[in-house]
Amino acid sequence: MNVGIDKINFYVPPYYVNMVELAQARAVDPNKFLIGIGQSEMAVSPKTQDIVTFATNAAKEMLTKEDLASIDMIIVGTESSIDESKASAVVLHRLLGIQPFARSFEIKEACYGATAGVQMAKNHVALNPNSKVLVIASDVARYGLKSGGEPTQGAGAVAILISQNPRLLVLEEENLSFTQDIYDFWRPIGYDYPLVDGPLSNETYVQAFQKVWQEYQKRYERTLKDFSAFSFHIPYTKMGKKALLSILETETSEEQTRLLEQYEASICYSRRVGNLYTGSLYLGFISLLENSKTLKEGDRIGFFSYGSGSVAELFSGKLVKNYHEHLNTQDHQKLLNQRQALSIREYEQMFEDSLDIHQSATFADPTPYSIIKIENTIREYRES
Ligand code: CAA
Repeated sequence: MNVGIDKINFYVPPYYVNMVELAQARAVDPNKFLIGIGQSEMAVSPKTQDIVTFATNAAKEMLTKEDLASIDMIIVGTESSIDESKASAVVLHRLLGIQPFARSFEIKEACYGATAGVQMAKNHVALNPNSKVLVIASDVARYGLKSGGEPTQGAGAVAILISQNPRLLVLEEENLSFTQDIYDFWRPIGYDYPLVDGPLSNETYVQAFQKVWQEYQKRYERTLKDFSAFSFHIPYTKMGKKALLSILETETSEEQTRLLEQYEASICYSRRVGNLYTGSLYLGFISLLENSKTLKEGDRIGFFSYGSGSVAELFSGKLVKNYHEHLNTQDHQKLLNQRQALSIREYEQMFEDSLDIHQSATFADPTPYSIIKIENTIREYRES
């Protein structure tokens, strides 16, 4: 039985900053952000929007009544939880109107979380062919104003529906995970922002990719020629490229050009959004599907997932016949183009204006599913 990605959609908050303006405000050469880091714009989230808001907006439009009746598992991958106990998936289950006999929970392992969810979903559908599983990656990536990680922030969610006979991509059985206990990026309980060793995180990302790629080739007798493209976790768009280049050194220039062109297609959206943490790999996949000029049905895509701490995984899938008929390219471009640009002052004010759950308050953000009220530490979301 074929199991895989039937539908996929993303949502980002309606504000962004221009990276040239951010560079100028930080007295940095703009080319460091535009070329060195590889980012043009960065999504910014107001205090009235959180992982539930993003997740609901990403999932709502793509789910039909039939999907809502068939989904029996909702998995949220996040490292931006809003509660130490209750899973955001439970709130999402209600906001989306999913049938009640479902399992709803959250998974955490930095930016790897949603991939654990996708693999679990695949196995669940393989055992229960009539089930559908909703996997959501939703995060707010924040390092702090004027911090080293500031140009690599972002926010948003990707919703993925896993089912049998998928319309976009069949997930293959080949996958390989790699765990090593390191402190390249972590956020102790009570900390608003992560602690990060930038150079170590870059190094570990590339080494983890090389390690899984070498072992994957051996185990599954694969070469680069078996892959039409790779989709990477994209904390900033230069990162995946560093990893890809590290295995292309000995390849012909045709082979390098072929895979680098696909990489460029995979980063179009991340370049305008920044890091979605666990959603970044899947935003890259949507961007690849919607911006590649050469992909076709039957093509194999390699996926590299990396979560600091760290867990990495390489897995693969094959594009389904007529997959391009099920893409939402225009809607996605509209979502990105209709965002409001913030001045650096507005961005800094929005950044510092954080939600205080100890203060009862009401809010008037018109965005669907935004937080409209805080009472007794509980968030109430706009439902119409
Ligand atoms: N023109 C062009 N390029 C320039 C330039 C200029 N004027 N000035 C600098 N650059 C280049 C540098 O040469 C460098 O390129 P290479 O990496 O190819 O050598 C690049 O810009 C970045 O420069 P620095 O290394 O000096 O940048 P930095 O010290 O400010 O740190 C960072 C960059 C480490 C990414 C930092 O922003 C950070 O810590 N980010 C958060 C951590 C992160 O995203 N890590 C990624 C791997 S971990 C992961 O993937 C999980 C996750 O999501 C967090």
